[in-house]
Amino acid sequence: MSSTLNNEVLGSTSSWQPHDGLLLEVDGLEVEFRTREGVAKAINGVSFDLREGETLAILGESGSGKSVTAQAVMGILDSPPGFVTGGEVRYCGEDILAMSDERRRTIRGPEISMVFQDALSSLNPVFPVGWQIAEMFRQHRGMNKSNALAEAVRLMERVQIPGAAQRVKAYPHQFSGGMRQRIMIAMAIALDPAVLIADEPTTALDVTVQAQIMQLLEELQAERRMGLILITHDLGVVADVADRIAVMYAGRIVEYADVFDLYAQPAHPYTKGLLESIPRLDRKGETLASIGGLPPNLMQIPPGCPFNPRCNYAQDICREQRPELYEVGHHRRSACHFADQLVRGQEPPLTRRRDQLEGGVRP
Ligand SMILES: Nc1ncnc2c1ncn2[C@@H]1O[C@H](COP(=O)(O)OP(=O)(O)OP(=O)(O)O)[C@@H](O)[C@H]1O
Ligand code: SF4
Ligand SMILES: [Mg+2]
Repeated sequence: MSSTLNNEVLGSTSSWQPHDGLLLEVDGLEVEFRTREGVAKAINGVSFDLREGETLAILGESGSGKSVTAQAVMGILDSPPGFVTGGEVRYCGEDILAMSDERRRTIRGPEISMVFQDALSSLNPVFPVGWQIAEMFRQHRGMNKSNALAEAVRLMERVQIPGAAQRVKAYPHQFSGGMRQRIMIAMAIALDPAVLIADEPTTALDVTVQAQIMQLLEELQAERRMGLILITHDLGVVADVADRIAVMYAGRIVEYADVFDLYAQPAHPYTKGLLESIPRLDRKGETLASIGGLPPNLMQIPPGCPFNPRCNYAQDICREQRPELYEVGHHRRSACHFADQLVRGQEPPLTRRRDQLEGGVRP
């Protein structure tokens, strides 16, 4: 169903229009968690934007701040202990963080919607899936029960659930993991949002189903011209789908690039490490590299570059001075003191070997 047709059928009345072509602008976002053990600086000045029809992948190891960024954008941060301590999140030019709860509710769901990693815990186990999808149309579009249910069946068909008309009355536990994720996607796109945030939508699924869900998201994004944010820790999963990639480390974006540029030549040692840890068919039999060491404790982020304790190129300046995220090419930013060299394919001198780092983990 095209976006226009969908809007006609559902009577969408969105008055939001992209601002300078931008749907979403995240500017200097800061989030901290105030816990009994101390303050964890989870997000430290994250900025990115998203246009209509564009796919941005947010990539990083566990704990790098991907989900917290999404939660802050959606306004669903667990607070307390989480607090937004700085920055702006603008939707179509208007700061979501500064608006009233009532106004924010007109955005969350109808305009910006989200798919979570764990479909089983996100769906209500005691209601049939068709009923749960139909509720979206009843609550937000004022449809009567039978029209809402018919719309739910249409949407289930669109996300390729076999026998949708018969299975509309089935419960979440009666579907496979992949099918449940399709139902979550159906609910997320029901109101024809302008922005869809998918937080690790395929992590719990096997590789074949992962690929099918990614393809479905790609198709839906193209036909509805949505802005799509794909959160993942797996660079391999987003390679074919993303337009741009933001690589996160310790609550910061450390590299921001068009997908082809990033694959061709990473401009940050952390991205380089992530790329080297992806299995490749053309290098069958080779041992996969891993990034040595562990991400920092967010209550004690090291001075200088947060990646320095794990970086093979770390020099004195890296321990003393925090590198800013700066332009290193067209649409391209990196937060590394040696990014200009890296982006030209020149490797800075190695200051430690991989085997000198302990506790290597694969991202
Ligand atoms: N409810 C919370 N209370 C305290 N700290 C939290 C809470 N939620 C998140 N954090 C902190 O924020 C950091 C970032 O968490 P986030 O969930 O965004 O990581 P992530 O990048 O999504 O990781 P993953 O790949 O495992 O999902 C965590 O390392 C943790 O220190
Ligand atoms: S600034 Fe230094 S420590 Fe940080 S990524 Fe670049 S080379 Fe490594
Ligand atoms: Mg997460």
